[in-house]
Amino acid sequence: MMRTHTCGELRSEHVGQEVTLCGWVQTLRDKGALLWIDLRDRFGITQLTLEAENLAPELMQQARSFGREYVIQVTGTVKLRHSPSPKLETGAIEVVPSQLTLLNSAQLPPFLIEDETDGGDDLRMKFRYLDLRRKPVRENLILRHRVAQATRRYLDQQGFLEIETPVLIKSTPEGARDFVVPSRMNPGEFYALPQSPQTFKQLLMVSGFDKYFQIVKCFRDEDLRADRQPEFTQIDCEMSFVEQEDILNTFEGLIRSLFKEVKGIELPEKLQKMTYSEAMWSYGNDKPDIRFGMKLVNLKVSQQLYAGVSLETFQVFDAAETVIAVSVPGASSWTRKQIDALTEWVKRPQIGMKGLAWMKREEEGSVKTSFDKFFSPEALAQLADFCEASNGSLTFFLAGDEKATRKAASELRLELGNQLGLRSKDQYSVHWVVDFPLLEQDEASGRWHAMHHPFTSPKKEDEEFLFTDPGKVRANAYDMVINGVEVGGGSIRIFDQALQAKMFERLGFSQEEAQKQFGFLMDAFTYGAPPHGGIAFGFDRLCALLGGSEIIRDFIAFPKNNSGRDVMIEAPSTIDALQLDELKLKTLA
Ligand code: AMO
Repeated sequence: MMRTHTCGELRSEHVGQEVTLCGWVQTLRDKGALLWIDLRDRFGITQLTLEAENLAPELMQQARSFGREYVIQVTGTVKLRHSPSPKLETGAIEVVPSQLTLLNSAQLPPFLIEDETDGGDDLRMKFRYLDLRRKPVRENLILRHRVAQATRRYLDQQGFLEIETPVLIKSTPEGARDFVVPSRMNPGEFYALPQSPQTFKQLLMVSGFDKYFQIVKCFRDEDLRADRQPEFTQIDCEMSFVEQEDILNTFEGLIRSLFKEVKGIELPEKLQKMTYSEAMWSYGNDKPDIRFGMKLVNLKVSQQLYAGVSLETFQVFDAAETVIAVSVPGASSWTRKQIDALTEWVKRPQIGMKGLAWMKREEEGSVKTSFDKFFSPEALAQLADFCEASNGSLTFFLAGDEKATRKAASELRLELGNQLGLRSKDQYSVHWVVDFPLLEQDEASGRWHAMHHPFTSPKKEDEEFLFTDPGKVRANAYDMVINGVEVGGGSIRIFDQALQAKMFERLGFSQEEAQKQFGFLMDAFTYGAPPHGGIAFGFDRLCALLGGSEIIRDFIAFPKNNSGRDVMIEAPSTIDALQLDELKLKTLA
């Protein structure tokens, strides 16, 4: 070993010892007679102190020749510091060198390798290996490692087997586009990269493995966001002989143990369950952030009034298909300027609303609105009551077509939560959303799609509506939501060949198409498939949340940027003509 200790290890009990450290020069401060070097490795920083008075001039000179990020080895004696630094874990001591060895010099890095850097996103991604030297990024990856290890430990203890599944496969229908790989040996044919190991884990259940898991790369060619990468990692799991409640209990256990081990946080013994329809109704989306209240109040949905107040009262919103209110307690003193800023916010193209109506219920109870002239004072009071607007509150109204208004109201609620500081990253809400619809209809084509995937089972009592009222059929499907982020989702599967065939028919597959695409699975189901179900957690999302962020890129060693590019290795890239020839491919680009 080239070192006796790491740069994060030395404490006052090491004083007097001769040690050898290796690392990178973080900073060098030269005060002439005194020179300090902060030596860094992944474990921490140790200060080297060189005093001209007590050291050979060559040693001082050599130290002076070092630049930022030079790789050096130092042998020296551990001393107690005159003025300890509480910021460093090694802050009680310093090392006084007797020997310095330059292991490698370094170019000046293109940005500061500090917690707060001057490097922009693009630059840091291009030199990601330097970015990874920075403590906050390094700590994210260390956290990721700990979450992976804790996951493996928990699932192993529960009797799960970690089994790898192939990466070159046939397309899995999870709703995104596939990444495809041409086959040289089978010209004109392509593999698909798995959007998830869904069909394989079901086949493993048919094989009798009973409890499977895998921390596995998945690939989806979809538009990217802060919580989406084209290649991402899942904790993918499947179990046999289980019902929905068994899966929820098992994986609540996993999440509880991760929170305990990684964050020291005890989650409640039983996690809250919310139905999909309640989530949509009260929060406007299927992954509500329930760290704060401010539930939406549906006044009118699909032209149907819920207010219990007369239609005339709603003249002002008459043309709108849907009207949704959200009340902010204690905000009746908000200024016109604040309200105007929010109005502009909802008018942005991303939100797409025409405007924002408001109502203040003053502390003493009187009601004032942006649409007073349309209402009698009694009607206003009635409206405020219906909106459950407490004294001193400010209520906002959004109106328009149903889907857009619900989405906008959900976004507005979250924005208000942000502005009011109600979405602290140190506070966690973890809950399930259950009873998702089995199918959703494509507005343009009228076709029904599986909301989760085609292997998800319908609720027994809803099965009869599969062809008569498909929108009404609920699935045995569930998502786990943490702080408004969908971290995991799964379902109890169809394990009966006849029901699976019916589902394919509902989804518009001809028998031949279904056989061509999923024949292997349907065949497998004829050889004694056990009842089974499972779940997959977005591992990157889980790590980001545990690290107090929603930006998963920061928790991936070598992520892609928003255009799906790795700017460091410059991928994707063209391939040469010979490779194209071998693959029997021609590009049009
Ligand atoms: P689903 O498609 O819901 O289910 O994915 C499971 C979880 O994976 C995460 N996730 C992503 N994370 C980062 N980038 C992405 N592009 C991305 N897409 C999804 C989410 C999501 O909750 N086979 C089923 C699971 C099952 O039924 O067992 C599946 O993949 O956190």
